[in-house]
Amino acid sequence: MNTSVLIVEDEFIEANNLEEILVGAGYTVTGIARSVSTALNMIEKRRPGIVMVDIRLQGNLTGIDLGMKLREMKIAFLYLSANSNKSILDAAKATKPYGFLVKPFRSKDVLVMLDIALYLHKQAAESSKTDALNGKSGNLPASRPLKEIVGSSPAMTDILNHIQVVSQSDTAVLILGESGTGKELVAQAIHHLSGRRDKALVVVNCGALPANLIESELFGHEKGSFTGAFNKRIGKFEQADGGTIFLDEIGELPLDLQVKFLRVLQEKEIERIGGSTRKVDVRIIAATNKNLEEEISKGQFRLDLYYRLNIFPICLPPLRERQSDIQLLANYFLKKYADRQGKEITGFSDEVIGMLHAYSWPGNVRELENIMERSVLLASGSLITSLALPKGKGRGPAEIDESRIKTMEENERDHILSILMKCNWKVYGEGGAAELLKINVSTLNSRMKKLGIEKKRYMKK
Ligand SMILES: Nc1ncnc2c1ncn2[C@@H]1O[C@H](COP(=O)(O)OP(=O)(O)OP(=O)(O)O)[C@@H](O)[C@H]1O
Ligand SMILES: [Mg+2]
Repeated sequence: MNTSVLIVEDEFIEANNLEEILVGAGYTVTGIARSVSTALNMIEKRRPGIVMVDIRLQGNLTGIDLGMKLREMKIAFLYLSANSNKSILDAAKATKPYGFLVKPFRSKDVLVMLDIALYLHKQAAESSKTDALNGKSGNLPASRPLKEIVGSSPAMTDILNHIQVVSQSDTAVLILGESGTGKELVAQAIHHLSGRRDKALVVVNCGALPANLIESELFGHEKGSFTGAFNKRIGKFEQADGGTIFLDEIGELPLDLQVKFLRVLQEKEIERIGGSTRKVDVRIIAATNKNLEEEISKGQFRLDLYYRLNIFPICLPPLRERQSDIQLLANYFLKKYADRQGKEITGFSDEVIGMLHAYSWPGNVRELENIMERSVLLASGSLITSLALPKGKGRGPAEIDESRIKTMEENERDHILSILMKCNWKVYGEGGAAELLKINVSTLNSRMKKLGIEKKRYMKK
């Protein structure tokens, strides 16, 4: 791979860290700019394949101003920002970036996002070429499936953005979240936005298959391959050929089948029971409400399969952690069921709105939907004035702050890092980091260990 990347980032450590990740993965970094004007100068000298832009920069202009210019110049770009509040995200989205990474991120996230961004850029360039030949103007895929996912909280806005991006590639996606948070809805959206939308989306509930039939259900069997196999059977993977397979409740999959899955993921081939191997072209989306890391530690889920699936995780937060979506969803379901039942209901009483926010929603969006359906059925006036909520599931008054602010730990990490950089990673002795920070060496070492600060991650070899 020889794609060139320009980094536009005013924080020295972040920029350095990013450069390290990119170079390690075989990209060429054309430069690091700390302001929009420097970035434009650098681009004039050498046009990069893609630009990674922080939103807050030195100087008067922001990353979003640069994004607008890059779009005009038809240069691919994606944003990296610690700030994911709604107004910034909306402004960023208006510039149509190829991705948005919320800091802090892992190196794996950066590389997957970059890969997808470059792929999208290539696709857009090719489709504008063919559209130009056909006399049409270029367009990204229709976003209708996204409209069915209601939510405008920062977390959901990020997720919608990720769905749009990942749907354009064949990357495996792992959807995590409590029951009823919308995992299946997300899987459907990814399939319907993807180039595979005209082929099948095959759903397999790994938790509901009888243990002795799972293998044949998934991989198929040849006639006579075991007692009772009277006819040949085409398994789910083959049914999904050219399309998508959605492996729901992947955490329930027995260990012996996990090995076979790994093979499909790696080799893209399956083996019918009693038959030969054959290639299949399927996109894999898996979901679970289990904590897979816990399952791994209990020896119930294979680490290698987890790594293979966890390339692009999408974590759906529980409803109680996205307060601003509760009312939006309540209105959405109110309208849906009022229309369906032919009732004229315009909204909720103040008391009901209070109850919606105070409740903990252990069953998440599914529970909200069911309660709305029931309330609409029972309502006699134009407002919903009561809710039949289970008792004792309220929340405390503590509000959840959804805007992204640095935690104490992140602050501490950044501060220690900046001092270490300043003294060239000298930890002890005169002019060393421990002395500058006025703490003893062993305390500093243990803080570094706890915060995951390692020299090799931040310094060039
Ligand atoms: N953001 C959303 N906007 C609109 N409807 C939603 C949203 N999230 C979930 N729903 C609806 O809530 C119900 C439950 O969603 P879904 O079946 O996708 O959840 P799930 O995470 O797969 O749950 P489980 O783990 O129990 O299988 C569905 O009817 C779905 O359409
Ligand atoms: Mg589900």
